[in-house]
This record gives sequence, C-alpha cells and structure tokens, in this order.
Amino acid sequence: MGILDLDVIKEFIRLCEDGWKLGYHEYHGGNVTYRMKPEEVKEVQNFVTKPVVEWTEMEEKHTSLAGEYFLVKGAGECFRNTVVRPQDVFGIVQINKTGTEYRVLWGLEKNGRRPTSEFMPHLSIHSIKKTADAEKYRVVYHCHPENVIILSAVMPHDSKTITRALWDMEPECPMTFPTGVGILDWAVPGTVDLGRATGELMKKHDVVIWSQHGILVAGRDFDTTLGVVHTIEKSAGMLLRIRQIAGDHYDRPTEEQYRELDQIFHLHLPEEYVKG
Ligand code: 13P
Ligand code: ZN
Repeated sequence: MGILDLDVIKEFIRLCEDGWKLGYHEYHGGNVTYRMKPEEVKEVQNFVTKPVVEWTEMEEKHTSLAGEYFLVKGAGECFRNTVVRPQDVFGIVQINKTGTEYRVLWGLEKNGRRPTSEFMPHLSIHSIKKTADAEKYRVVYHCHPENVIILSAVMPHDSKTITRALWDMEPECPMTFPTGVGILDWAVPGTVDLGRATGELMKKHDVVIWSQHGILVAGRDFDTTLGVVHTIEKSAGMLLRIRQIAGDHYDRPTEEQYRELDQIFHLHLPEEYVKG
C-alpha cells in the first residue's frame, strides 16, 4: 500500500480525469484544491515523514486555515497527466500554525514544487467557506467549460439574469445550485484582488463565473463539485442553442412554478431570483 492507494487520492485523481475527459481542461487549464479531513491527514502521515520544501510565505494570511492540509494541483500542470503522473500533477501542502506560510509535503515533483498559480484565490474561498460551514465545503474546483465562457461574453454580468437564465433550462438547475451564480468581469488570473472579489461573491454563492475565463465551484466532495459544473455547463449549452433557434421567444417556468418547486424540495431559493 502506498500514498496513491488512499481513497481520497484516488477520488482526487478521478475528478481530474473526468474533468479532462469532459473537455474542461485544455492544456494546463484549471485547478483544484481539497481541504483534507483529519482522518485523511492521519493516513497521509503514515507515508509522509518530512517536507520536500520548507515554509514559503503566503501573500495573504488565512488564520482560519491554520494547520490545514490540502491536495493542490500544480502550476502549469495538465489535468490530462493526472492518471499517469499523479506525483507531478498535484501535491500535498500544509499551512502553518498561524496561517501565514505553507510547505510542500509530497508531490509537485516536475514543476519545482509550485502549487497552482491560483492558490491564493483558492485559499480565500476555502477560508470563507470553512468559516461558513467547515463540513459542507472541502473542494474548490476551477475549470474552463466552453459554453459557460461563451455565455459570459454575451450576457450581462448580472447575477440574477444569469442565474435565472440557467435555472430556466431544467429543474435540476435550481436544485443543484439553489444559491445562484455570481459573476465577475474579466480580470488577470491568480491575483490576490481577484481572490478577494471571488471570496466576496462566495459568501453568497457556491458558484462564481470569471467572465471569458471559466468557473469556480466550492463543494462538499468531488461528486458534488464536478456535478455542479457539469449541470451548469449543460444548461449554458442548452441556453445558447435555444437562443440561437428562438431568440428570446421560448417557454420558461413562472414565478409561481419556482415557488412550488422551492416548497416541495425545500430549496430556500433567494427571493430576489424567484421574483419575476
Ligand atoms: P495553473 O496551471 O497555474 O493551475 O493555472 C491554470 C488556470 O486555469 C489559470 O486560470
Ligand atoms: Zn483558469
């Protein structure tokens, strides 16, 4: 038994493989981080005894993440390679006791042991989501799904407009992302500012679109997180096709129908999105 036989590692690899096969990760596009459970950290400690890179200072302090262990995709690494060279594509990273530094314990072998260039935005989201509900949020997943990116280029960057347009495609949508979708204008990837702005939107949503770049989702586990992206990307594709065929003339659920759905499935849909 080795580190690659641990269930959590196998599930991480599976997400990467599925994301690649779904076309969400051209070249080195996208990244994923996972905040490990205490029992998973214990398992890992059976295989990792000393760090491979000592402490590196972080651009931003995250007290709420002090002592946490993360699985982290590497900067410039391709999701496509995860199955064949997992030790190159991702690594295990530990945050120090004050939330100011991180060190690499395993992996990231090929790129000089560098976590994703978007490690800071990921940590901002983890910090906000852990504070909101530590068990509900462990994964932050970023990818470049084609239809979502096209939609972000042609629709107003307004959360209500985009959320309702996506929800209208099928009931699965409000059921899968009931708190709606936030959206930010185009921005330089990987910056602390983008991390902060994304974090602000993540206080309200579990999904944020980076216009003409991609999508970020915070979720409980790998199934949930990939499932949300898959649902949104399918919905975005249907929306684009419907609009191509019919312009703005197509059937949509009414406010009353949304209220009925909300009541039956206990979705707690925000009033601002339900109201017509
Ligand atoms: P990394 O290769 O640094 O993870 O960056 C990929 C990406 O999607 C940038 O937005
Ligand atoms: Zn990206």
